Amino acid sequence: MTTPEPAGEREGAERIAKYLARAGVASRRASEELVAAGRVSVNGEVIGSPGTKVLTGADEVRVDGEVVSPPEELVYLMLNKPMGVMTTLDDPQGRPTVADYIPAGMPRLFPVGRLDYTTTGLLLLTNDGELAHLMMHPRHHVPKLYYAVVDGVPDAGDLTHLRKGVQLDDGMTAPAGARVVQVRERTAAVELTLREGRKRQVRRMLSAIGHPVISLARTAYGPLTLGDLPEGAVRPLSTAEVDALRASAKGAE
Ligand code: URA
Repeated sequence: MTTPEPAGEREGAERIAKYLARAGVASRRASEELVAAGRVSVNGEVIGSPGTKVLTGADEVRVDGEVVSPPEELVYLMLNKPMGVMTTLDDPQGRPTVADYIPAGMPRLFPVGRLDYTTTGLLLLTNDGELAHLMMHPRHHVPKLYYAVVDGVPDAGDLTHLRKGVQLDDGMTAPAGARVVQVRERTAAVELTLREGRKRQVRRMLSAIGHPVISLARTAYGPLTLGDLPEGAVRPLSTAEVDALRASAKGAE
């Protein structure tokens, strides 16, 4: 085992957990556990101290024997995911995936979070592993805004129920925002703001109150809003949006 280097010995060197998080290996905390478990080596030697510092491009870092390195250029894209597209990069059943929407020549990007096959809307794609981990951490409670067209018209009692918590088979839902934004003859549009991200949560909550979802779109994710980005279109985030995302992720550290 190598001994950790004194802080600041090499300019630009960073703690191993930060390096591993930037490389998308795991969150900083989980990366420290990987180090403690003896699964990380630097320049051929297994390290045992989370205080070990490494320099990108100069040190060879391996996890379980695989070389890992942070991306050189960080890319952030917003996709308006169409219906009938998997939120994965590869589908064994050959269905369309979000990878089909990433412009050619981009580095390998990963979806941050997940939308159901039939859900449309805002999906963030990035190679910034550290930011992605922070945004997806349950502790972070990123607010997500959904626009659901439902069967029937929820009444005031239904909305209170949605806001206070709905009993699902995996437990009570956390407080949420809920309002009816449009009423038609037999359907209504409901806006829901959730700070959790359980599987099919919006669909299950609305079914539980007797108003199953007909269509579902995510219109905001943390500080990002979909705006008028057409379905199937992708655009890079602006610098202001990336700054806002970073600032919001900081709150999760
Ligand atoms: N809730 C759902 O039910 N589905 C989604 O895709 C996202 C949130």
